[in-house]
Amino acid sequence: MNNYSHRMTLIVADEHHSIRSTPGRRLSEVLRDDLGLKSVKIGCDAGDCGACTVLIDGRQHCACLTPVAQASGREIETVETADPALIGQLQKAFLAHGAAQCGICTPGVLMAAVELLQTNPAPTLAEIEDTLAGVLCRCTGYRKIISAIMAVGTAPERVGPPDVGKAVGHPVPRLDGLRKVDGTEIFGADYAPEGALVVRAVRSPHHHAGFELGDVAAWQEARPGVEAVITAADIQGVNRFGVIPPLADQPAIAEVTARYRGEPVALVVGDPDLVEAMDLSDFPITWTPLAHTLTEAEGGIAGAPQLHETRADNTLIRGRVATGNPDQAMESAAHVASGRFETSYVEHAYIEPEAGSAWLDGDTLVIQACTQAPIMDRDDTAKVLGLPLEQVRIIPSAAGGGFGSKLDLTVQPLLGLAVLKTGKPCRMVFSRSESMRASTKRHPGTLEATIGADESGRIVSMMLHGDFNTGAYASWGPTVATRVPVHASGPYLTPNYRATTRAIHTNGPTAGAFRGFGVPQAAICQEVLYDDLAAKCGIDRLEFRRLNALRDGNAATFGQTLQAVGIEECLDALKPHWDRALAEAAAHNETSPVLKRGIGVASCWYGCGNTALPNPSTIRIGITADGALKLHQGATDIGQGSNTVITQIAADALGVPVGTFELIGPDTALTPDCGKTSASRQTFITGKAAERAGMALRETILRLTNLPGTAEIVLSAGKITVSHGDERREIDLAALPANPFGYVLMAEETYDPPTSALDENGQGIPYAVYGYGAQIAEVEVDMLLGKTRVIRIIAAHDLGRVINPLLAEGQVEGGIAQGLGLALMEEFLPGRTENLHDYLIPTIGDMPEVESIFIEKPDPVGPMGAKGLGEHVLIPTAPAILNAIRHASGARVTKVPALPHRVLAAIKAAQ
Ligand code: FES
Repeated sequence: MNNYSHRMTLIVADEHHSIRSTPGRRLSEVLRDDLGLKSVKIGCDAGDCGACTVLIDGRQHCACLTPVAQASGREIETVETADPALIGQLQKAFLAHGAAQCGICTPGVLMAAVELLQTNPAPTLAEIEDTLAGVLCRCTGYRKIISAIMAVGTAPERVGPPDVGKAVGHPVPRLDGLRKVDGTEIFGADYAPEGALVVRAVRSPHHHAGFELGDVAAWQEARPGVEAVITAADIQGVNRFGVIPPLADQPAIAEVTARYRGEPVALVVGDPDLVEAMDLSDFPITWTPLAHTLTEAEGGIAGAPQLHETRADNTLIRGRVATGNPDQAMESAAHVASGRFETSYVEHAYIEPEAGSAWLDGDTLVIQACTQAPIMDRDDTAKVLGLPLEQVRIIPSAAGGGFGSKLDLTVQPLLGLAVLKTGKPCRMVFSRSESMRASTKRHPGTLEATIGADESGRIVSMMLHGDFNTGAYASWGPTVATRVPVHASGPYLTPNYRATTRAIHTNGPTAGAFRGFGVPQAAICQEVLYDDLAAKCGIDRLEFRRLNALRDGNAATFGQTLQAVGIEECLDALKPHWDRALAEAAAHNETSPVLKRGIGVASCWYGCGNTALPNPSTIRIGITADGALKLHQGATDIGQGSNTVITQIAADALGVPVGTFELIGPDTALTPDCGKTSASRQTFITGKAAERAGMALRETILRLTNLPGTAEIVLSAGKITVSHGDERREIDLAALPANPFGYVLMAEETYDPPTSALDENGQGIPYAVYGYGAQIAEVEVDMLLGKTRVIRIIAAHDLGRVINPLLAEGQVEGGIAQGLGLALMEEFLPGRTENLHDYLIPTIGDMPEVESIFIEKPDPVGPMGAKGLGEHVLIPTAPAILNAIRHASGARVTKVPALPHRVLAAIKAAQ
């Protein structure tokens, strides 16, 4: 604390806390660090996200923007200290309505709701939207937050726990929900060992530049408190990581060239009080800016600055799927539609910037950080640090959103380097702008396609080429390049087909995984052209899709014979809504010359899991001698609900109440590999492993008691009671020997979906399970301003057996919010939109009504018939909105986001 600090009093829960602080220090920092009120989250330190919302004298404030002196002597309320009756009711409602997913925004949302309900116990929708306008949620799509707030003070809907064997299909509230609503969840920035040093990165201010380090030792010496400066020269292992190991090309710390703006070139480690406030702009480094490219068009031309000497040019990889004779079939087509479409960089904008801490436990490096992929983190971090795998332990903290970006390494190797160099525990928290500069993005794409139909409107051929900007490093570029050609036909029968892709390096941010892996971009191209074709064929747009929908037994463009195809059922479920919406829009438009309504429809399909690659998950369930039942669940729950869904499946497979399980993990030291949380794979693959483990343990128990499969199993202290009719037997658990895991009974099962490699034409079995869906968008377009308001989305999704309808609805609503952002507002521009006031994501006021319709077409492979959902739900939203804009205004928008100037230009072009 410096000489300018003052003594102040903060009043929290009627207690007077005397503190010493500089007057201008952020209140958020004081509440978290001095008073331990960790429910106050830091999302941006700029008043943009509202995660730090607290009440001061009953009114909501962003604690990050409030100098502590302004709060002195005033009553401060946080989730920990708010009126227990009101906050308790809100917390219960949030749990019952599934209003918290990852939970990072939840404390801020709750405090804004407390402000409202204290003076207005029965608020209207408009009042809720008004009060919560300053708090962003990236997961939920806000609808469940609204319904939870409206439910406070009303008679609670009684949904009891499921009966034994009936957990699957039941709206079980999130099992890890309590700590999300009471503010005790531990996110990446919420824990660090006592005395942890802070790690900061010196990052490139240039898109592409050579650099030379100056006298780093002298710089360090002149700065007391700096314990270490770390550069690439300190790296003992292989300074290259990447999610696709053969293509690993990303240095943890750049060596002599920075290839994107924000790339780390050095680390500064030291005393938090000094290093956190340190100006790093005088770090001794000389930059030599180099020519750079930022778009796939620039990066892909001959003579473009080359990023990687190890590659022939800037093409990272190509993808291809081809079948039939698309050229010949196109020539014979009665109707043909063609188009070129562009999409932008999209930022994940999770509310929790990347954060974590690390320490040594003996000779094991322990890293606790937000992640979607603990085993991949362990393997790549060990590689960079030159440590054997068993000397790196990853404990995922709760992830405050991920959506694909937290699959890639962020703080992990940097923390490891700092701990190994200093021998002390360390912590690292990215600032918002650092997060936005350094994290991966959705691939921008330029897609061109031609689709042909015969006289009757049946698709005869499709040809597509997509160039994707994969940025500086490989990351998930190969996945996008291979997944897009597989999916680009949409869920439609396409007998002649050729889809090709390229992932092209540029000096833009590295593009990685983002909900859909390129399929949402491809769906925009295909679905807009389907509207063109429907018009040319003179067929209603929804009927045109139904006519061409894939059906059971059809061969996909990659040769796989498909089963359990639910797209036709999804479109059928939408038909009454389609007819109603079209009639309403027509009636509205007769009397509204400026605000025109339009209706659009689009479909999706999505293969669950890795594309044509092994991706096993392993689940362990054990029973201890005293009768505790433990589920070792290594899948990271980033808000989507795997902790709950996988437990539901395990419970039914074993035949015990869902609440019997104690959840262990994820933790690379305690849980087997459940793979990464991506590609909508956890419910399907880890769920299948859980089903198998539950069934195997049940079989063991029944074998020991020699009772048939329908017997009832009850666990209690030290024993298992198994009953079948009048027969009743007991297993004395204490009499059984414990295995090396400490279990007297245990089952461990692995599931790896049956896929096959794709040949040079992309023929094979890329996925074992597919989910399907279709959405209708109802929009209103201002013909003078070009602004679009989405009024309603009706989403019909075939997710096979619905494991948890409450959580599934949350996925649909959250995915739609992100699809709406992709369609209408989100465009990341390196160097220009590196914060949450220039980069806009949907707020509560942007969200339309959402109606979810679930089609349950059980999958023969998925656990209990389940498919996947997480990524599917985002795919149709943007094309449905674009098609609705066109229906309303005539504007055929070919670049997203459909910002007002683009819509106006398209209206003009149409006129
Ligand atoms: Fe709101 Fe995750 S639940 S940001």
